[in-house]
Amino acid sequence: MTVYVGIIGLGTVGSGTVKILFENQSLIKKRLGAPLLVKKIAVRDPSLPRRVEVPDTLLTTDPESIFRDPEIKIVVELIGGLEPARTFILKAIEAGKHVVTANKAVLAEYGAELFAAAKEKGVDIAFEAAVGGGVPIIKTLKESLAGNRIKSLTGIVNGTCNYILTRMTDEGLSFEEALAEAQEAGFAEADPSLDVDGIDAAHKLALLTTLAYGTEISLEDIYVEGIREIEPLDIAFARELGFVTKLLAICKETENGLEVRVHPALIAEDHVLASVRMAYNAFYVRGDAVGDILLYGLGAGQMPTGSAVVSDIVDLARNVLSGATLRVPPLSFQLADLQRLPLKPMNEVVSRYYFRFSAVDRPGVLSKIAGILGENEISIATVIQKGREAKGSVPIVMLTHEAREAAVSRALAAIDRLEVVTAPTKLLRIEEG
Ligand code: NDP
Ligand code: HSE
Repeated sequence: MTVYVGIIGLGTVGSGTVKILFENQSLIKKRLGAPLLVKKIAVRDPSLPRRVEVPDTLLTTDPESIFRDPEIKIVVELIGGLEPARTFILKAIEAGKHVVTANKAVLAEYGAELFAAAKEKGVDIAFEAAVGGGVPIIKTLKESLAGNRIKSLTGIVNGTCNYILTRMTDEGLSFEEALAEAQEAGFAEADPSLDVDGIDAAHKLALLTTLAYGTEISLEDIYVEGIREIEPLDIAFARELGFVTKLLAICKETENGLEVRVHPALIAEDHVLASVRMAYNAFYVRGDAVGDILLYGLGAGQMPTGSAVVSDIVDLARNVLSGATLRVPPLSFQLADLQRLPLKPMNEVVSRYYFRFSAVDRPGVLSKIAGILGENEISIATVIQKGREAKGSVPIVMLTHEAREAAVSRALAAIDRLEVVTAPTKLLRIEEG
């Protein structure tokens, strides 16, 4: 029996997927035990140049023809965005097709509806490529760590942001220059603000948190800060202090609820995630039985992401051939067993901090700032003061010992009201290894 696949979208990920299916066709057949063929590929504009050579006969501008085709058993959605992606996935399910998608946005927004519809219809949804590009984090959480209680997961999950931060750190590129490079390489979302404002990372973290903890979580539950406000000056100070700057996605079990947050953070140069550079992603997972594990690889781009999509297609093709659907629950837990676990409010999170104050260069300024920090029980670990940054203004950089987020917000609000403070204070959290 031949397993036929229909694909919607032939951009960065679609072209990588098709390339792998074409070039490794005989290898895949040996692994699957049956031919796996692409029958149709839907695009908007068939006249556009593609990053893979595709016979014209495979291209269509009518996705409906894929849903109608009884020979196609697996539909692969690679267009991105919320609509019409959601509708296409629902139509594929309704037509009894298994679905593969790389679309974390649609899953984070409409996952409950899509997974329920798939269960009802008895078809599978697979989404390895939606998180971590080519890194098999979804399968690891669903299958390899099925016996573990997950204590924490700390990830570098957005290739675009990691690329930008690496280029700003290593080459002193501006944020805009580094973003343009990431867009050119095809890592960024169609709307790159999803990347740089941390939303894409939050979409991924929502999925990871459900997979790790069996909890339903909406995007509004996640504390999100992007990398737009990071200045080269802070990256340079951080380096001087022995830290690198990363956008982290964190979910962590604590006594007072789950911490679920996305924000830039400083990590020590010898932290296990510090050497994750450019478009690479990494996932540092702590399980109660396995201990610590680290997954690392390219988190975006044509071929790595295509690799993850093809692994899902092969998985589902195996189900088609054996007739075994819904064997592994798509969200790792049975849908009926998903709960809503209590979340720890961001105000209660405890962390070390990096502050950069901009203040007038006058005696007594430092003691005023230190006084307010002391009143809020924030104790200082390190202070450095450098030359003037603008007329009459000096940067004062401090690292703190552990403090509570609420106390930090209170203290910074008071400090920023001081007449000697010339610009809002920059804050970065320090994540321990
Ligand atoms: P692209 O913008 O490169 O490609 C999108 C493709 O979808 C294009 O071929 C486009 O057709 C087609 N398309 C859009 N709308 C329609 C429609 N209504 N009907 C038919 N075809 C349509 O996106 P990417 O490949 O970068 O991303 C695809 C998905 O993969 C997204 O969900 C993204 O988040 C995810 N992803 C992307 C990664 C990456 O590195 N780029 C990594 C991991 C996940 P046409 O070419 O004719 O305009
Ligand atoms: N825009 C995403 C990123 C693509 O840069 O990580 C991979 O999900």
